[in-house]
Amino acid sequence: AELANRVPLIWLHMAECTGCSESLIRADTPTVDTLIFDHISLEYHETLMAASGWQAEENLEHALKAYKGQYVLAVEGAVPTANNGAFLTVGCKGHTGMQIIDECAEGAAAIVSVGTCAAFGGVQAAKPNPTEARAVMEVTNKPVVNLGGCPPSEKNIVGTLMYFIMFGKLPPLDMFNRPRWAYGARVHDNCERRGRFDAGEFVETFGDAGAKEGYCLYKVGCKGPYTYNNCPTERFNHHTSWPVLAGHGCMGCSEPHFWDTMADFEKP
Ligand code: SF4
Ligand code: SF4
Ligand code: F3S
Repeated sequence: AELANRVPLIWLHMAECTGCSESLIRADTPTVDTLIFDHISLEYHETLMAASGWQAEENLEHALKAYKGQYVLAVEGAVPTANNGAFLTVGCKGHTGMQIIDECAEGAAAIVSVGTCAAFGGVQAAKPNPTEARAVMEVTNKPVVNLGGCPPSEKNIVGTLMYFIMFGKLPPLDMFNRPRWAYGARVHDNCERRGRFDAGEFVETFGDAGAKEGYCLYKVGCKGPYTYNNCPTERFNHHTSWPVLAGHGCMGCSEPHFWDTMADFEKP
């Protein structure tokens, strides 16, 4: 009853940078306060909750029991598995990330990997991956929705949560378990510089005359032709901008293993 039709949300931090949480709090449709007060009950989130220490852990234990089978589990960050998970321990009891994922995945109604770290291992899993960091879907047998992006936009996070809240099921997914409504189109196909690409107008070096004219960034490493995400149409920070509009080009951040396969930015 105390939930008043709100869906309980448990949000875990594994090995990560908290950029995905930064993205979440920039939500504007709905805003994060509307989300928290009207649609979800945020039971646990280490950077947003008021509780700390033992009280925080009690909140988590309570939520796992009281809302078993009802809560959405969001995970930010990869899960180190080397040395039995010892590279990541969280909380007063010193539980490893692997133990915490096990415990929290058990009663989850849905699991959402928020960001490329949780979805595909991210920077932690880049070569040589000394902590043997793994994606959440690699350490649990339960189905996981992957929100690729480093970070994913606030729209892709909130939109996926709202889909579950409104329809009681997960949205249709692509071959990497990413929601198709958000990751169904290629960055290159919706890019405002695509006309420049088609016309053969390329930036040759950063800061050249073509860069000032808004030419295509392919020759300085843009990975938009190989990347599926809605950045050109949805943008970030209240629809303000996105990498290509800012003049940098896409690094392929929503794709698996992009740190190893796409991030060599100056040499496409
Ligand atoms: Fe940070 Fe990127 Fe990992 Fe999100 S996906 S936690 S922004 S490194
Ligand atoms: Fe494609 Fe990148 Fe050029 Fe845009 S800037 S048209 S995404 S290659
Ligand atoms: Fe990432 Fe490329 Fe979008 S770097 S934020 S997928 S434009």
